[in-house]
Amino acid sequence: MASVAFSGAAAAATAATTSRRLPASAKLSLSPSSSSSLKLLGSTPIVSRLFLNPKRCSAAPLPSRAFSSAAAATKCLASDPEQLKLAREDIRELLKTTFSHPILVRLGWHDAGTYNKNIEEWPRRGGANGSLRFEIELKHAANAGLVNALKLIQPLKDKYSSVTYADLFQLASATAVEEAGGPKIPMKYGRVDVSAPEQCPEEGRLPAAGPPSPADHLREVFYRMGLNDKEIVALSGAHTLGRSRPDRSGWGKPETKYTKDGPGTPGGQSWTAQWLKFDNSYFKDIKEKRDEDLLVLPTDGVLFEDPAFKVYAEKYAEDQEAFFKDYAEAHAKLSNLGAKFDPPEGIVIDDVPSQPVPEKFVAAKYSSGKD
Ligand code: HEM
Repeated sequence: MASVAFSGAAAAATAATTSRRLPASAKLSLSPSSSSSLKLLGSTPIVSRLFLNPKRCSAAPLPSRAFSSAAAATKCLASDPEQLKLAREDIRELLKTTFSHPILVRLGWHDAGTYNKNIEEWPRRGGANGSLRFEIELKHAANAGLVNALKLIQPLKDKYSSVTYADLFQLASATAVEEAGGPKIPMKYGRVDVSAPEQCPEEGRLPAAGPPSPADHLREVFYRMGLNDKEIVALSGAHTLGRSRPDRSGWGKPETKYTKDGPGTPGGQSWTAQWLKFDNSYFKDIKEKRDEDLLVLPTDGVLFEDPAFKVYAEKYAEDQEAFFKDYAEAHAKLSNLGAKFDPPEGIVIDDVPSQPVPEKFVAAKYSSGKD
């Protein structure tokens, strides 16, 4: 069984909650004999619900008897809007006790970032479809350590069975950015889940940290997702959060003065000193390159070397507001990559800013009669 590197009191508490809710057979592990997380969860009620009733459908009430039976249209949504809102509250609470903001952002990005715009067919095109819950994909080298993020999300999935994994991953990521002090992300929900490990993308779609030509590599991978230079630089700014661990990705120091005491499991090397705060210090720190304890991957460093990337990296180092604006747009776009939405327009759970209500024509106002 794979070791749980995301340990510490908080993670233990989560594990305890998980074990209370799930039978022993349902616990996530990476035993060599199992081929998917669903197989591991095979006997749980939630899995039968996923297979037997993959869509949550409810008959819309008939407005009146005068309408034909066609009016009894069935309303199908991938996720329940009310459950999405409640799940967001739970994620906020989870973040307060586990400090798992970084790994949840990485979880959302790695589910979405497998998208290939040159493949039309869903789910073969990859993207934000919940496929990262399956062991076969979690075992891809790029996903090292993300099983710990899934262990945090699984109890939420058990509690909110009418929210898809694909939505939960993206909800957790956007909420983590916002709760860490980052921008509000214009998210929509309603992503449909893949249902079997055979639908997972092949390994190798996510970027490598130390390729021979980092700029060419970043463009090759992110252009395949339909993202541009500005979006590559803005999204890389998510490394303002979190740490790299040699025992997971192979990158970074085992510990630094910024990580030796946690919070969460101590250790790893962060890109920034305050690695649980979402701000533009990632760009400032790479530019200054003054602190040996801060990480700069080859794919981070190139943002200040490549002439086209550099324009944005310099701008974001100077102007946090510009970074937040571009980051929020790019993050929302990333979160939608490859997703199949049900309903097709998606579900918005944020309160839409209230529009000024146009003044109604009130006949009395224009009459010559008395008030
Ligand atoms: C540009 C190409 C990218 C490369 C090569 C890359 C590479 C990496 C590596 C090697 C790690 C360390 C993983 C570990 O050892 O646990 C990491 C962590 C992380 N990545 Fe990236 N990444 C890239 C882009 C992104 C993007 C686009 C996002 C989000 C929008 C992101 C978010 C994160 C976060 C938040 C962490 C910290 C995770 C933690 O502390 O557990 N990365 N990345």
